[in-house]
Amino acid sequence: METIILKEDCVVLLDQTLLPERLEYVECRDVESLAEAIMSLRVRGAPALGVAGAFGLALAAMHSKGVGRREVLSDLEAACARLKSTRPTAVNLFTAVKVVMDAARASDDPRAAAVDAAKRVFEEDVSMNKRLEKIGAELFDDGDVVLTHCNAGSLATSGRGSALGVIKEAARQGKNLTVFADETRPLLQGARLTSFEMVDAKIPVTVITDSMAGFVMKNRGVSKVIVGADRIALNGDTANKIGTYGLAILAKAHDIPFYVAAPTSTIDSQSRSGGDIEIEFRSRGEIEFFNNVRIVPREADVLNPAFDVTPAEFISGIITEKGVFYAPFDFGL
Ligand code: MRU
Repeated sequence: METIILKEDCVVLLDQTLLPERLEYVECRDVESLAEAIMSLRVRGAPALGVAGAFGLALAAMHSKGVGRREVLSDLEAACARLKSTRPTAVNLFTAVKVVMDAARASDDPRAAAVDAAKRVFEEDVSMNKRLEKIGAELFDDGDVVLTHCNAGSLATSGRGSALGVIKEAARQGKNLTVFADETRPLLQGARLTSFEMVDAKIPVTVITDSMAGFVMKNRGVSKVIVGADRIALNGDTANKIGTYGLAILAKAHDIPFYVAAPTSTIDSQSRSGGDIEIEFRSRGEIEFFNNVRIVPREADVLNPAFDVTPAEFISGIITEKGVFYAPFDFGL
């Protein structure tokens, strides 16, 4: 299943807002439609957002009518600013567009350089994922009952996924794992996407509402928790989908290892600790309606942070393509 594809004249995305009922691809023919797709989560997940940003710049380069290097670069700068304005938390988006812009700026042919660099961002994501899942799978045992949150699978990356890639690789090695997937309110990435990927991989999965996590830890033998990440600070504090923080505290209270799986492209050398990470706040509409039915009175306030930060002290290990890091976290950056 391909999540994001760069074609000659467009970027093709698997529209994740329609899953699991409809498997449809959308074509983004300009940067604005790709930016809209990012903001509405047709494409989502930190590594996939990095690739989307890189492909967005490739699209801008391919469509630029600029005559000469300076005009092409100016079109790329505008596209870069638009892409960076879409979602603030996943650092992969910012790192990837910087990689592509740096390559374009350093070249006599910014058009070709941007397209080549964007393809490399995609290929590196695939190879980082492959290494990460092998390293992570070693931490999992036959019979493990695994709890995960949001979706950190193929849909969120260019490979089999970070957290879900580890689970899939452990299963491929013959370990029998069963998975609990938090539904992940308000946009239901766990219910719609993680369960879809687990069913596709033939791994037994049970969907629970977010508030049931404590119950299944206590009563259903959860032996490991594994999640992805949107941005990891240098001290190990980790931003991930809202609800991850509470899950980490629950895991600690039940003496269950809590792992984060993410490629090193998710580590932000500019964030010393979680306090430096910008959290995205989304519209109240995502919470006050359920299946288009109003469930919150108009007069009530609604708060909708899309991510929270789990302090490093609650994280048992951070699984990357370079190995597993343990506290005190030092990523060598
Ligand atoms: O709002 P989303 O769906 O983009 O949030 C995604 C997550 O929080 C994922 O857990 C994270 O990006 C890791 S994906 C490998």
